[in-house]
Amino acid sequence: MPIAIVLGTRPEIIKFSPIIRDLEKRGTDYFVIHTGQHYSFEMDKIFFEELELPEPKHHLNVGSGSHGEQSAKMIEGIEKIIDSEKPGVVLVQGDTNTVLAGSIVTSKVSALLGHVEAGLRSYDRTMPEEVNRVVSDHLSDLLFAPTQNSKENLVKEGISDEKIFVTGNTVVDALFQNLEISQKRFSEKSVIPDGKYMLVTAHRQENVDDPTKLKSILESLHSLSENLNVKVLFPAHPRTVKMMERFLLDKPLGVEIIKPVGYLEFLQLESKASLIVTDSGGVQEEACILNVPCVTIRENTERPETVEAGANALAGTGKDKIIEVASSMINSDRKWKNPFGDGKSGKRIVNICLEKII
Ligand code: UD1
Ligand code: UDP
Repeated sequence: MPIAIVLGTRPEIIKFSPIIRDLEKRGTDYFVIHTGQHYSFEMDKIFFEELELPEPKHHLNVGSGSHGEQSAKMIEGIEKIIDSEKPGVVLVQGDTNTVLAGSIVTSKVSALLGHVEAGLRSYDRTMPEEVNRVVSDHLSDLLFAPTQNSKENLVKEGISDEKIFVTGNTVVDALFQNLEISQKRFSEKSVIPDGKYMLVTAHRQENVDDPTKLKSILESLHSLSENLNVKVLFPAHPRTVKMMERFLLDKPLGVEIIKPVGYLEFLQLESKASLIVTDSGGVQEEACILNVPCVTIRENTERPETVEAGANALAGTGKDKIIEVASSMINSDRKWKNPFGDGKSGKRIVNICLEKII
């Protein structure tokens, strides 16, 4: 019985890449279902090209829509494929609507559901991601928790210890596998600014769909460029660009907004930055692994390990606090240890899946 991988967004493609590579190397029977939640070249195809991943066997082309509309189309499409392919294990990764749909379908068939990056909790149910990850965790048969802390979150919710495996996070595998390649390809011919710069990403629904918060974030970036005397580079998610247009918010002075870049170029941008300001989950992790200080423009994080390590600080979305936290973080000693594992998580996850299928 094959292993099925359900993915659909930028971070899922990146974080599943070590697992896909390992399955390819072993010649394991597997297939990929791409829901099409992300579809723009720079949010999707570029990662398949850069990471040399095979074309997905199935593509649902679901595209954008409201949560219900998007999830419903995915559920319908995934169900048909799972019914005909009859996989032994279905893997989902993270906390997107793609994860929710893959989990709901798999929970009603005989295949085992494996959740990669299980047990993360922001304890903030206003985030669609928190709802998705809680549902997926409670439906899963195999929970691949990246850290001991994420395992403890699951145990506290009554999930049986026997189903939980602390594997590390495949974000480390992907970064280790690609950092040198990214250096060779992009350390010179890239959009990397000369001198000190701050790298920014923002796309969370609760931040960018709220005109007051988005305006405050943009104003803070302008102030930071002046107060910290740094350039500000902001590869903007299409959702953020759409919302800036909708709310008639101009590009702030001193901030360079560009299209999202590929993973290889982004790794270079991250590793050479003086500071990273973000609301992304994956970017918080990567900043921590690369020993670059991070300011998270949210009130909470499901990655508390980064804060405990001293690599990350929460600033919310208010201007004064962002400036205060960023001014302090930019002078961090950068000596923390990466809490997300040794870069062998993908292999561990595949080993466990193969044992369970037999
Ligand atoms: C989704 C995930 C979020 C994850 C993020 C990764 C959910 C609920 N949210 O958020 O957890 O952090 O992906 O980036 O699953 N768009 C494009 N091109 C694309 C994709 C999106 O232009 O390829 C635009 C569309 O206007 C769309 C909007 O971005 O309406 C939002 O896309 P969507 O996939 O709904 O949510 P994300 O914000 O990307
Ligand atoms: N990323 C990228 N190009 C960019 C911005 C981010 O390749 O312009 C990568 C980044 O390295 C990380 C992932 O995208 O691995 C994070 O995705 P995102 O922030 O969209 O989602 P989240 O992690 O918040 O779910």
